[in-house]
Amino acid sequence: MIFRQLFDSVSGTYTYLLASRRGGEALIIDPVIEKVDRYLQLVGELDLKLVKAVDTHVHADHITGLGALRDRTHCITVMGEQAKVDVVSMRLAEGDKLTIEGLALDVLYTPGHTDDSYSFLMRDRVFTGDTLLIRGTGRTDFQNGDPRAQYDSIFNKLLKLPDETMVFPAHDYKGETVSTIGEEKAFNPRLQVKSVEQYADLMNGLNLPNPKMMDVAVPANLRVGLAQERIAERGWAVSAADALALIAKPDVALIDLREKTEREKHGVIPGSLHAPYPDLAVNVRPGGMLNELARATGKRIVFYCAFGERSAMAVQAAQDAGLASACHIQGGIDAWKKLGGPLAR
Ligand SMILES: [Fe+2]
Repeated sequence: MIFRQLFDSVSGTYTYLLASRRGGEALIIDPVIEKVDRYLQLVGELDLKLVKAVDTHVHADHITGLGALRDRTHCITVMGEQAKVDVVSMRLAEGDKLTIEGLALDVLYTPGHTDDSYSFLMRDRVFTGDTLLIRGTGRTDFQNGDPRAQYDSIFNKLLKLPDETMVFPAHDYKGETVSTIGEEKAFNPRLQVKSVEQYADLMNGLNLPNPKMMDVAVPANLRVGLAQERIAERGWAVSAADALALIAKPDVALIDLREKTEREKHGVIPGSLHAPYPDLAVNVRPGGMLNELARATGKRIVFYCAFGERSAMAVQAAQDAGLASACHIQGGIDAWKKLGGPLAR
């Protein structure tokens, strides 16, 4: 396994790069925009393919690297379903798996620092975001923070993990790099409380100054979506309402780019074909499945995904590969569902 802990000294942020093997798919957690060049250099040096960029929550102290990484690598952006960001490619909820080739992380909803905070468990280690820090916990006084929710997330979820589980937080300001659940249980001063009330009193009495970057970072981090408008301006998008008329049309091939688990959870547009986003480059190039389908049948390729991000990138790739009729459903299955579009399982 490849595991790298990267540090942004300006914001004290830890970023994690994970992959199951050299030459394989990689995942990055909590990237910082100023460090994107460094991440991509490392990804190249380790011969990795970055396929997912994940934020544990909307950060207030730095601007996320999610958008820049997506624009430069066409990776998928991922956040929790509660995150009030405009658009990400994929949203996760408690009990889901965050997967890449050879790795599957358990998704834990751990609100409290913010109401969109998640932790990710990978076998012997857990990425705790700003929920559980080393000898500390994330502040709970803005972004819908809630000390009672955080108490529940920490005491009833994270501290229930085996004592030897390694804790990798999103921040540290004192140079600590890793702890364990057992160590934090025993030595984290914030966790030496007898009740949720005592914890709430402790957190509510901290009186911390706002992060320096907050007024810049939060608004920037809420707008991470790809400009689907640019794809629409080129005439490569159909609205979900117009897409309703495309079902069962003989000259149209609806292509679902999502993962199997997303299809099972949210349903699929009836009659659509499954061609997962990671296989896109192979599928649209000459000789590829979608390229052949379009050329042999003359069908118009209509991509869709969860929110329109992956499909917008797919349209660009298909157009670049010469499939001039390719388009996508703007807003994805999310927009489709809001219109009451039919779904199959
Ligand atoms: Fe945070």
